[in-house]
Amino acid sequence: MMPRKIKENILLMGAIDWNRRLFDSLIPLPDGTSYNVYLIQGSEKTVLLDTVDPAMADVLLSQLKKVEKVDFVVSHHTEQDHSGAIPHVLEKYPDAKVITSSKGKGMIIDHLCVPEEKIVSVEDGEELSLGDKTLKFIYTPWVHWPETMVTYLKEDNILFSCDFFGSHIATTDMYVTDEGLVYEAAKRYFAEIMMPFRNIIKKNMQKISEYEINMIAPSHGPIYDKPDFIINAYVDWISDTPKNIVVLPYISMHGSTEKMVRYLVAALSKRGVKVHQFDLAVTDIGKLAITLVDAATIVIGTPTVHVGPHPNVAYAVKLANVLKPKAKFASVIASYGWGSKAIEQIADMIPNLKVEILEPVLVKGYPRENDFKALEKLADTIAEKHKEMNE
Ligand code: FEO
Repeated sequence: MMPRKIKENILLMGAIDWNRRLFDSLIPLPDGTSYNVYLIQGSEKTVLLDTVDPAMADVLLSQLKKVEKVDFVVSHHTEQDHSGAIPHVLEKYPDAKVITSSKGKGMIIDHLCVPEEKIVSVEDGEELSLGDKTLKFIYTPWVHWPETMVTYLKEDNILFSCDFFGSHIATTDMYVTDEGLVYEAAKRYFAEIMMPFRNIIKKNMQKISEYEINMIAPSHGPIYDKPDFIINAYVDWISDTPKNIVVLPYISMHGSTEKMVRYLVAALSKRGVKVHQFDLAVTDIGKLAITLVDAATIVIGTPTVHVGPHPNVAYAVKLANVLKPKAKFASVIASYGWGSKAIEQIADMIPNLKVEILEPVLVKGYPRENDFKALEKLADTIAEKHKEMNE
């Protein structure tokens, strides 16, 4: 990608990673991603906002070929997809200094071995004049690590937000053109990266609401030239009120759990409850995370493997516990051959979830009439709980 002009003396640089399919060796990236870098050339000083993943440092360096001087590199966030090429940039511009938050300073030393004297830490709200342009640094912790901050360019009302509001999409679009596509990618990103910090993000949203923002320029995905689109989406995602939705991740080995899942999904649907059903043997775990953003109830479906839940189910339950969704209710539908502690073990795995446990359904062998009655009862309870929640 060649540098692209956003406004006079403000350029979009960075790399589009079309082929990356996994982030942190955990998060699926079905649409690739990008590492956006912004160059702001003031009348006196030039600043680079973030860098790229170290694997793509050569792309950034080639974009900087004709840039004679960089005075500062702002590191909003130490994770290596944004900070990893800082040592390369410092090598090219030996007089440049790295600007970061007070927490970021130590992290850059730890993770990138940048010498301490090369780093300047700024306080929350501190400003930096580039001559005719002014940067204001705003601390926004936990989007996505504790040191994260964003930069507000005062004269142009642009918020450079790094991970905050980002979306993992590889695209040549500089601005959002397909809101549906970006909405899903940004929601996936929020679910996997931001959701555990919902309450802190509320404070960050409050903080940035004090600024007039004409454009949000994140470090992943296209720029928002209509920022209300993503701000409104975040307001919805961080709210405490879940929707009339059940998310049902499950595994079936010989058909018993699958039969229960199908029955329960039909019973819930008949009662006006929306259900997202995920067979964990084949599902994209990111899709599951997206549905956890809104769901009021999580129902886990599992067969019994050596007395406990199927290991794929244990993984999904562990993930849900880490992501801390806003769900208010949870239950388990399980099957077994001769003995099971699957329900107790699953209940022990979700200490982070503030959920009321609804009576589980445990079936020996293939489900029969009494088991279907129990599933009807569970569907009744879920529908009732959802109704009460919305009253
Ligand atoms: Fe895009 Fe938390 O790094």
